[in-house]
Amino acid sequence: MTDNHVPNVATPLTLPCGATVKNRFYKSAMNEAMAGRDCAPTERHVRLYRTWADGGAGVLVTGNVMVDRTQLGEPGNVAVEDERDLGMLRRWAEAGTRNGTHCWMQINHPGRQSPITINRHPYAPSGGRLEGEYGRFFAEPTELTVGQIRDIVRRFANTARIAKKAGFTGVEIHAAHGYLINQFLSPADNRRTDEYGGDIEYRARFLFEVFDAVREAVGPAFPIAVKLNSSDVPITVKTGDGVFAGFDETESIWVMKQLERRGVDLIDISGGTLEKPVIQTTSGAIEDRRRGVYFTEFARRVKGELTVPVALTGGFRNARDMERALGEGITQMIGIARPLVLVPDLPARIIRDRWDGTVDLPWVTTGLKALDKAFGGILVISWFELQMNRLGRGRKPNPRIGGMRALLFAIGKHGPAALAPRRRKGHQ
Ligand SMILES: Cc1cc2nc3c(=O)[nH]c(=O)nc-3n(C[C@H](O)[C@H](O)[C@H](O)COP(=O)(O)O)c2cc1C
Repeated sequence: MTDNHVPNVATPLTLPCGATVKNRFYKSAMNEAMAGRDCAPTERHVRLYRTWADGGAGVLVTGNVMVDRTQLGEPGNVAVEDERDLGMLRRWAEAGTRNGTHCWMQINHPGRQSPITINRHPYAPSGGRLEGEYGRFFAEPTELTVGQIRDIVRRFANTARIAKKAGFTGVEIHAAHGYLINQFLSPADNRRTDEYGGDIEYRARFLFEVFDAVREAVGPAFPIAVKLNSSDVPITVKTGDGVFAGFDETESIWVMKQLERRGVDLIDISGGTLEKPVIQTTSGAIEDRRRGVYFTEFARRVKGELTVPVALTGGFRNARDMERALGEGITQMIGIARPLVLVPDLPARIIRDRWDGTVDLPWVTTGLKALDKAFGGILVISWFELQMNRLGRGRKPNPRIGGMRALLFAIGKHGPAALAPRRRKGHQ
């Protein structure tokens, strides 16, 4: 230790529901790709989260857990729709809450963004096949009926209830990255003419109903976070009916304010645009350093508008940037994902050892340009999934592993389905 000054990242934070988190490290959701049969959590989840909890973060958010095992966003997702896996969920939660750590389950439904290789019958706010290069990877979705929408709302609440029962200490509702809730928010995906479509107050109705149902299920003292895109613009979706733009920053801030009024505990700010795809790149540390912390301009815009805590996610690689963002007040928590796969005890190193280095993300490459180009985003995601699986087996991450092994890992574990894009281009 070089001085007695307590860094901003080390200060506790009390959330609106009354829960206190011990420091400002918010491990963002990463699909672990390690579910067992029937989407059950496994021993690997337990070991991985034990490692992270011992690594010193204040909050660990799990990878997205699906509310319906017939509707997965990615191969290897955990799904929780009843209590059949309660025993394993309890062990997972226990591991993730060691060391005074909060462990929150991220809850999700993929909507149309469920690859055709694992789902031939996806649902979405509106029907219609996606045109363009990504259309062929997703089956044409069926438009949800109001009855089906209510069933999904009930499922989110039920999954949250089971998460609490299992010992998770909070939940995060996934409303970003082009999945179902984001599809409802976005005029590019939602062309409904009933009470769930039209102006933003109607497009946001599904999210608000999910939020209220989850709050009802977990009670007033349990943390609920919502992960939201800063905007989808300039994402456009081309369908047979024309070209539609995504939802924008002004709408996003309006949604945040409404969530604040309804009692949300934290907004996790994310996003991803065509100009700035966040993880669909194989480029390495130089490009990553140049890019810096993501969505800072938007976070500055949000600062004066909200009192609820924010976790700004993406691009944090060193203590300096973290201290600056917290000091400036543009975020109250440091959302961080990939660096914690490479350095699982980064929070402890920064808080306890005052480590002031930078975590460099590797350049993930197969060595073949054509393959890198074809599988860019999947390559990076699979590489990090492979590393998480190493941690789940009690091994250390190995930054020297090449892209080809990541692709083979994905195919070996999930079959060729692993090579379908997980998210439409432009979504993080
Ligand atoms: C392997 C992998 C899986 C991810 N899975 C999820 C997920 O399940 N839910 C989610 O909201 N974000 C997911 N993300 C996005 C991260 O939470 C985070 O927003 C993104 O990686 C940017 O943060 P970083 O620069 O600190 O990595 C994933 C990212 C990676 C690399």
